Amino acid sequence: MTNPAIFSTVADLRAAVRDWRARGERIALVPTMGALHAGHISLVELAKTRAERVLVSIFVNPTQFAPNEDFSRYPRTFEADLDKLRAAGTAGVLYPDIGEMYPAGFCTSISLEGPATAGLEDRFRPTHFAGVALIVAKLLLQALPDVAIFGEKDFQQLAVIRRMVRDLDIPVEILGAPTMREADGLAMSSRNVYLSAQERAAAPTLHRSLREAADALLAGGAPATVLAKARAEVTAAGFALDYLELRDAASLAPLEALAGSVGRLLVAARIGKTRLIDNIAVTPRMSDAPKSV
Ligand code: PAF
Repeated sequence: MTNPAIFSTVADLRAAVRDWRARGERIALVPTMGALHAGHISLVELAKTRAERVLVSIFVNPTQFAPNEDFSRYPRTFEADLDKLRAAGTAGVLYPDIGEMYPAGFCTSISLEGPATAGLEDRFRPTHFAGVALIVAKLLLQALPDVAIFGEKDFQQLAVIRRMVRDLDIPVEILGAPTMREADGLAMSSRNVYLSAQERAAAPTLHRSLREAADALLAGGAPATVLAKARAEVTAAGFALDYLELRDAASLAPLEALAGSVGRLLVAARIGKTRLIDNIAVTPRMSDAPKSV
């Protein structure tokens, strides 16, 4: 196992990327905020199938947290992260400090519409996606990878990033990777460490309710009835629900009926001091799709 190179400055990162490119190697970037778990490592594994060199960034980005959110207590586990990245065969780790990413006088922002204003996460975290877009744009321009990989767990984030990259002509392929789950279905998340034993026991309800709702929709259930049942189950398990909705998987627009569209069920809910999100696909079989004449 070789140690990944650790870059704390953009200049050092760019010098390494230049060397790799000169050897004709492809580069994949996996942006993270650290506190790595098997879900992140699955992104690294996917990255390795797409590029000779995998770069992982670890940066807890302050601009995507609102003042009342968990920026200061967000888990920071750099040494353990590095062990996992070494074992996974990562070529380099970008680990900058705040001053490197937001130098004195920093005053640029990105204004978003479209998927960033779909009325999901943005309703509860109105400044979140501007912070995500800003840091992801910076990371992509710093590393200029061939491909960048993001988990589908943050489904709206993935849509926002795809749109931004398209709109700003950033020359990188954005790849979404399936959500990794614990054995009981709970989506892996760095925030799961906040859960008490009792909250952890209730947490798989999110995925179970989505799964049952997806099955009911595919069996022809009316969305309003199916969603009402799923919302009631999540609330009964002790969550305060922010949203549980059926959306068009591509546009994130509300879906009144499946009618052959590929849907996505998305949920966000709070339990104790922790806010969890999850989503799953609702994909009608081809034979269910309306026939075009
Ligand atoms: O999904 C995350 O971990 C973060 O939002 C990201 C993409 C690394 C930007 O800080």
